[in-house]
Amino acid sequence: MNADGGRYTGLIERYRARLPIAADARVISLGEGDTPLLRLTHLVRDAGADVELYVKLEGLNPTGSFKDRGMTVAVTQAVAEDSRAIICASTGNTSAAAAAYAARAGIRSFVLIPHGKIALGKLAQAMMHGATVLQIRGNFDAGMQLVKEVAANAPVTLVNSVNPYRIQGQKTAAFEIVDALGRVPDYHCLPVGNAGNITAYWIGYSEYAGCAGTAACRFCAGTCPYAWPPVTDRRPVMCGYQAAGAAPFLRGEPVEHPETVATAIRIGNPQSFSQAQAASQESGGWFAALSDDDILDMQQRLAEREGVFCEPASAIAVAGALRDIGSGRIPAGSVVVCTLTGHGLKDPDIAIQRCAGRVLEIESRREAVERAILDRLR
Ligand code: F0G
Repeated sequence: MNADGGRYTGLIERYRARLPIAADARVISLGEGDTPLLRLTHLVRDAGADVELYVKLEGLNPTGSFKDRGMTVAVTQAVAEDSRAIICASTGNTSAAAAAYAARAGIRSFVLIPHGKIALGKLAQAMMHGATVLQIRGNFDAGMQLVKEVAANAPVTLVNSVNPYRIQGQKTAAFEIVDALGRVPDYHCLPVGNAGNITAYWIGYSEYAGCAGTAACRFCAGTCPYAWPPVTDRRPVMCGYQAAGAAPFLRGEPVEHPETVATAIRIGNPQSFSQAQAASQESGGWFAALSDDDILDMQQRLAEREGVFCEPASAIAVAGALRDIGSGRIPAGSVVVCTLTGHGLKDPDIAIQRCAGRVLEIESRREAVERAILDRLR
């Protein structure tokens, strides 16, 4: 038992031996990680599918997305290096996480966001945590280019996933899945935008499979502490899903004007393109695209049928998985894990538009309430 009485204190403490963090570093944590792995039943039955399908609820991290995993490690390292400020470009979630961890650390944060294309909840978070929010007349890819140039000159640490410490933190989600299931899933399905997360999962699974000194190592530029025996001898097939209007992995080249309702993954020029392609190929996996309608349908079905409210970008993983299960590309009997990357409350506008007409206006009288109930239960 530690000084905290054994209570959970975040993923750096849990997986410290596998993370490149100095023993005496001041850990900047908000208690991220340790998220639930929930089995879906209704959607699987609705589809007549014969698989074990799980969702990793990353929206239950402190700022509501998986970005917290990378940010605790990146900001802990930035503070260890005496950095006084961090910067990122973001479609929203990275900026929310950067702002929160900078606040926790007592340093400044600067976030570049695309004009008018970030979900309201994410913007509120960055503003509340005291980030300097720089809204650019350009998309995420333009913002990414800018922050890379600025960070090369100004005294700020870049905390996009090109920062290897981000990827190191995010790999811990793969560890948690194997630890929770007691086995490696057969298939891992997730949304792909800037492609840091698929890269991170592949490093995590590879590390548990004891891939020290093999292909897995080239992803992390030698920052992985790989001196560990394998926990398992298997790795999953990695399935990456993109919105049809923002699908550089399906085109095999950058997309100049990416468009999708899933603003989190409205990205045309992913920074981890080659690493993600390598992960996909090595695992025997694939990339596939889904329409905005497919994405929003699945977001709603997850909410209505399973009680799980995720953001649109997250729903694409389940939409893709169920489609590939239906076609047999993911065979019957498989154990499948989907990452639900962010919470549905991040993007209330989309949800409310989608459910327009669901609020009944009634008079403030008992009879009116009763009539509404009886009408619905008939
Ligand atoms: N899902 C959500 C909710 C995201 O916010 C992101 C990325 C992804 C999936 C894709 O992950 O980039 O590692 O392939 N959001 C970034 C941001 C780009 O700025 O918040 P990825």
